[in-house]
Amino acid sequence: MLTLVMDTIENYACAHTSNESAVLRELFKESIVKFKMPNMSVGHSEGSFLKFLIQISKAKRILEIGTFTGYSALAMAEVLPDDGEIITLDINEKTTDIARLYWAKSPHEKKIKLILGNALETLKTIKGPFDMIFIDADKTNYTNYWDACISKVKSGGFIVADNVLWKGRVLNPKDEDSFALDAFNKHVLSDNRVDVVMLTIRDGLTLAYKK
Ligand SMILES: C[S@@+](CC[C@H](N)C(=O)[O-])C[C@H]1O[C@@H](n2cnc3c(N)ncnc32)[C@H](O)[C@@H]1O
Repeated sequence: MLTLVMDTIENYACAHTSNESAVLRELFKESIVKFKMPNMSVGHSEGSFLKFLIQISKAKRILEIGTFTGYSALAMAEVLPDDGEIITLDINEKTTDIARLYWAKSPHEKKIKLILGNALETLKTIKGPFDMIFIDADKTNYTNYWDACISKVKSGGFIVADNVLWKGRVLNPKDEDSFALDAFNKHVLSDNRVDVVMLTIRDGLTLAYKK
């Protein structure tokens, strides 16, 4: 588990969170078997939190950077209204093939649009406004993603960024990803277009509300 709290506590919290759908459960299991990277997907607790944000904000149009095997995209699509849309960007054909396979098992597939390619390039072709943007791809580009995305979020919308605590390594950065995430966190905080809260959920989650 990629979490900053004890596994026993994380498990207890998951056990007291509404169940994930059968498709999401299967998808999570297959992602671990195929790619041996259980920490890549947001998983049950964080996925449920993203859903909750969508439900209370009534978000309808979402942009996601970093699809992997499609867990977070499908989790979010499950609570979007029928005319809602999530555009999700990734560069990896192999992992997104799994995503497509599982989305096709869900009635919410029609709300998801995958665009393959380098996200920074793809972002140049995507028009806002979005109600919510979820940043969850390569950490060294987080600040670039922020700069490319901030004008695409509507006023009253929000950006969510995952892994902002990087298992605590941002406190004393020693590698490229940790330096990049620490710089991103400071960049976001200094942006006066947003109100920011950093949460210690899982590996750290920043919520930024566009004023
Ligand atoms: C942490 S995973 C995303 C997990 C996903 N949001 C979920 O919860 O299921 C990060 C993804 O970013 C993608 N990625 C990395 N660099 C990228 C780039 N330059 N452009 C687009 N996607 C990229 C990787 O292929 C990987 O699938």
